[in-house]
Amino acid sequence: MKKPSARPCSWTWIEGEVMPTTSASIGVLDRGFLYGDSIFETLLARKLQPIFLDDHLQRLREGADRLRLPFEYADDSLREFIDELLTHHPPEQDVVVRITLTRGDRIDGEIGIVSSIPRLVVMSTTVDSSTDSRSTGIELLVAKRRKIPPACLDPNVKSGNYLASILARSEAQLAGAEDAIMLSLDGIVTEATSANLFWIADGTVYTCSDDLVLPGITRKKILWLLEDGEIDFETGHYPLEHLLAADEAFLTGSICGVDPIGSIQQRLLRSPQDRSWSRRLQQRYEDLIVAEISGRIR
Ligand SMILES: Cc1ncc(COP(=O)(O)O)c(C=O)c1O
Repeated sequence: MKKPSARPCSWTWIEGEVMPTTSASIGVLDRGFLYGDSIFETLLARKLQPIFLDDHLQRLREGADRLRLPFEYADDSLREFIDELLTHHPPEQDVVVRITLTRGDRIDGEIGIVSSIPRLVVMSTTVDSSTDSRSTGIELLVAKRRKIPPACLDPNVKSGNYLASILARSEAQLAGAEDAIMLSLDGIVTEATSANLFWIADGTVYTCSDDLVLPGITRKKILWLLEDGEIDFETGHYPLEHLLAADEAFLTGSICGVDPIGSIQQRLLRSPQDRSWSRRLQQRYEDLIVAEISGRIR
């Protein structure tokens, strides 16, 4: 996992102005603040190049459509706002970029969707890119709290409603683990609180199908890498016993990349030197990022 920088440098774009994040604010009537009525994207910028930005903007746009949230910014404008923010950061440091779009201010106390003016906020914050010295891998517990079912909230939308994830992670942390794996109401292994989950058992890579999870951009890249056929892979619905029989497992996310798991429910998975598939995919994902950066800088 990436360690947060001791003194993060953070800038915010709001209504055409860039300012230190500590000086940026929104009004108390904002529906993102009041109801979580918002969508967002979090992505990494390395050497001041936003990584897989097109994929993130596409997911943001699809999320806006699904929530009937007007989204009037062209991709080029968003790219410009991000580039402007990145000029405030030293090129040698990784930066986390967060794009948030809310439905704007509540009108007349109405909770239903009325025509409000959406609010865009873009934020950039440096992270310490040195990885954790701890090499054993993340410790995960399976949360008692279940994932919100798709019939209530579309898991494909990266909405501002993270309460179930927050409570599941805190459940894991209170029990001494770092993060939680969430099951669906009927016991299917879905994902971690803010990352997708892959595991390897008997020479096949498994992950939950995207009807129950956020279709992560990193997950998409890993599935693409797996298309080369070096190892079999499957997506689908798997019960907890299937995951608990895994040899290796890892989380994926735009900020953590491919992050190997050390234990699940205190059951140790393969030790770092024996995690051949996790390490290989971690390296190949890093290579994709390097290719993305060099393609852009050239
Ligand atoms: C619930 C959830 N799943 C998966 C992910 C990973 O998605 P991505 O690879 O696009 O960062 C995230 C990222 O924040 C998330 O919140």
